[in-house]
Amino acid sequence: MSPSAPHRPAVLVARQVFPDTVDRLRQHFDVEAYADSALIGREELVRRLQGKAGVFVAASEPIDAVLLDACPSLKAVCSMAVGYNNIDVAACTARGVLVTNAPGVLTETTADFGFALMMATARRITESERFLRRGEWTHWSYDLMAGQDIHGATLGVLGMGRIGQAIARRGALGFGMKVIYHNRSRLSEAEEAAIGARWLTLPELMAQADHLVIVVPYSAATHHLVGREQLALMKPTATLTNVARGGVVDDAALAEALKAGQLAAAGLDVFEGEPRVHPALLEVPNVVLTPHIASASLATRRAMAELAADNLIAALTGGQPLTPLNP
Ligand code: DGY
Repeated sequence: MSPSAPHRPAVLVARQVFPDTVDRLRQHFDVEAYADSALIGREELVRRLQGKAGVFVAASEPIDAVLLDACPSLKAVCSMAVGYNNIDVAACTARGVLVTNAPGVLTETTADFGFALMMATARRITESERFLRRGEWTHWSYDLMAGQDIHGATLGVLGMGRIGQAIARRGALGFGMKVIYHNRSRLSEAEEAAIGARWLTLPELMAQADHLVIVVPYSAATHHLVGREQLALMKPTATLTNVARGGVVDDAALAEALKAGQLAAAGLDVFEGEPRVHPALLEVPNVVLTPHIASASLATRRAMAELAADNLIAALTGGQPLTPLNP
């Protein structure tokens, strides 16, 4: 480096992402981009973070106090995911490390998928396709793959943040559903009125929903929020869809409840300990399984990556990060 050359912070892009996002970061930083399609391991992450001022991550790279202490040059952790349960924000804040996530840009895409997964679950779409592909379809029958109606049914939303509200709007305005919800804090009266949503306790929500959609963030407080006791309250005709995080639902209890007919079906995009899927869930036919793709439209994934890059650039060049998480 010549004496007059401006200092370029070094950053790590800790996972594969759009090449042009990496190119944009290269305009500002010395970028090391992890090129393997597999997730980066912890040791490798610590090793590559030595001397780095910033890191670009998503929902899977754990950033905790031990890692932060092993990587003292780190000043900014910018994630392209909205969920940030993989990042210990308090530990980052205590060490002066800025953290950002990517809220807003994936709301509608995730709500589209949550609604689609709920419909696929209620109307047994993937189960029907498997049946047809196995060559088992011999004739039209009055009850062949008969499922549950969506229109006019009661939509239960667990977690009424941006995505929950977007799902509720789809149900109320598009499908004439009655909307009930449970959330730590209630919406304002005006917000409730706009979608006709009614706040209930969690047991009331579990008991009254025809279709329960889970969109609550994962934390110690929401770990197994939906477990054996809550599942036992559901109607045997009800469905459960999870597009939040795996640990919110006790997957073993869910598999048992499905086997026992305590609910009609489940749609799961997220799993405890993913990409591992609880083996009992693979054995039940009335469950639709997808690999954590609720935000996966190309346009939205690009917007998420660009927001994380904007945040990283702002954080390390004296700008104002757009979506900081530190208090
Ligand atoms: C998110 O942004 O949190 C999605 O779950 C993708 O990881």
